[in-house]
Amino acid sequence: MSDFIPEGKIAEIKERASILEVIGDFVSLKKAGKNYLGLCPFHSERTPSFTVNEEKGIFHCFGCGAGGNLFNFLMRANNLGFPEAVQELAKRYRITLPSRELSEAEKARRSMQGRLFEINEVAAEYYHRLLISQKDGEEGRKYLAERGISEEVIKDHRLGFAPSSWDSLAIFLKNKGVPLNLAENLGLIIPRKEGRNQGEKPNFYDRFRQRVIFPIINLGGKVCGFGGRIIGEATINGNQAPPKYMNSPESPIYNKGHNLYGLNAALSAIREHGYVVIVEGYMDLLSLTQEGIRNVAASLGTALTTAQVSLLGRYTKEAVLVFDADEGGQKATQRSLEIFFKEGISVRVASLPAGSDPDSFIRREKRAGFEQVLANALPLVEYLLEQALRRHLIRTVEGKVRAVRELLPALNRLKDPLEQNLYIERVASRLGLKETQIRGQLRGKSSPLTEAQKTSPGPPKGPAHERLLLQLMLLNNHVIPLVEEVVGKDGFTDPSHRKLAREIMNFQEARGKMDVQEFLSHVGDEESKDLTSELLLTGESVMDPDRMLRDCLKKVKLSRVRQEIQHVDEEIRQRSRQGQEGPLSAPGVKELLKRKQRLLVEQKKWIDDSAG
Ligand code: CTP
Ligand code: MN
Repeated sequence: MSDFIPEGKIAEIKERASILEVIGDFVSLKKAGKNYLGLCPFHSERTPSFTVNEEKGIFHCFGCGAGGNLFNFLMRANNLGFPEAVQELAKRYRITLPSRELSEAEKARRSMQGRLFEINEVAAEYYHRLLISQKDGEEGRKYLAERGISEEVIKDHRLGFAPSSWDSLAIFLKNKGVPLNLAENLGLIIPRKEGRNQGEKPNFYDRFRQRVIFPIINLGGKVCGFGGRIIGEATINGNQAPPKYMNSPESPIYNKGHNLYGLNAALSAIREHGYVVIVEGYMDLLSLTQEGIRNVAASLGTALTTAQVSLLGRYTKEAVLVFDADEGGQKATQRSLEIFFKEGISVRVASLPAGSDPDSFIRREKRAGFEQVLANALPLVEYLLEQALRRHLIRTVEGKVRAVRELLPALNRLKDPLEQNLYIERVASRLGLKETQIRGQLRGKSSPLTEAQKTSPGPPKGPAHERLLLQLMLLNNHVIPLVEEVVGKDGFTDPSHRKLAREIMNFQEARGKMDVQEFLSHVGDEESKDLTSELLLTGESVMDPDRMLRDCLKKVKLSRVRQEIQHVDEEIRQRSRQGQEGPLSAPGVKELLKRKQRLLVEQKKWIDDSAG
């Protein structure tokens, strides 16, 4: 999306906007030396560790590690995407953004997308008409009626029916003059294998046959894809049973991991209730809606993706997961938790009785029953605790260890010290452990996490010369290729350093030059962004960058040579034991000794070089 806003405008905003002024709306800042300090808005603290540097245009919290530039701040604080953050600032500083300044390629792409949406619209209407009013739709009407879906829901969600004939949609689209290759791009129709062309018949057959159709509507209210459920149980016709559900394949307008079924229709209810209920299936969502629970979105059977959760995060910060009571549902829950944490959405997990899914449950227990289930939903840590208690034999030492391991990530994530303490107490008592035994395992093995500990900067991680190299790379364009040549793309030893180095190298490759502000605006990886702002704020100004660079690169070389010498030594030690007539007779030892000699020479060269 950022390519819709011309870089020139972004530069203008950066020029006009004051990072102190904007952040000042959220945090009261006090001058302290070159920086401004305040209480971090992203975690709870009592002593300020949130730092803003006006000259560099960056912020960094030394307590929780969050950092970046002005755009990053607004994105995090207001939960916006980059383009929205740009728009907000443009509005505040009265900079008019061109509403449309699209490149030819972008215009072509958009008009292509527009045509694809239109074709989906034609198909959705075709399926819907068939279902609600035509004779061929009888089977679909009967099926949905049996499943208790009302006409109102059918209309609201534009459900449809695809008949069993092989090409009724293909023929319909052809008669409407729809370019069939585009319908093929959407996965609505599939080309027949060569050689099967028979006279008049179109060269395509329908993807969805004998199925109830669920149009998937995006947040712009447009049909981006379809799901289809087979009517009745899968019939065996000769060879293979068709799958119960079929979905549109990926297309220029449909990306499975980026949409949630029913979200668009649920938005106002989500705002009203302040939370979203997440279920797995189409039918789950429809049954809940029908019973009047409308703040629902469906993940469509797969584990939730980051894209889906961040989409939700735009509308609410609270979610209740109601997944099937089976093993699959529980796994899906576990997997999605990390993603919710990252998005800052607090999750509760509701459990249904074994054998139920939300659809079957609400049809049996009605709205009141389901609301009870929602009310009983457990906060995350408690849910995990219950799961751990069920799955592990917590009377055994091993079971206790496993259970604690499973719970640690969630306990570590609790930002509020009081909440964390209360949960530690509860977990300890349920698992029959002492609180100190759990605290000992928490982040960095510190005993009770006090406010001071949480916010004190702590020593920087990883080798100092790597940090210096990264600082140099961020500030000096020409350094990047040199580091890439000597250290390599994956040559940094600390994993966070390695990741950031890679991001910097890729950025420079793609853009031709390094610009810290732009880098911060575009780097996708949160950790790399946070590390960047930290490096920029902690880096001393370097008098002679080239000399510094040489020294650091030497350190890298030296530490590699040293490591190799260690390897060779170890190898020699092992092999020597195998020698029948003294260590030197062992196979390969002589060669290894020669190699070690060469390495020692190289090491000396680097050491002398550094001295001189
Ligand atoms: N799903 C899918 N493809 C399949 C099976 C399932 O895409 N072959 C997705 C569908 O979105 C489905 C969801 O996973 O709604 C949940 O699957 P499941 O629990 O098997 O189906 P239900 O939603 O319970 O459907 P029904 O009640 O019609 O059997
Ligand atoms: Mn079901």
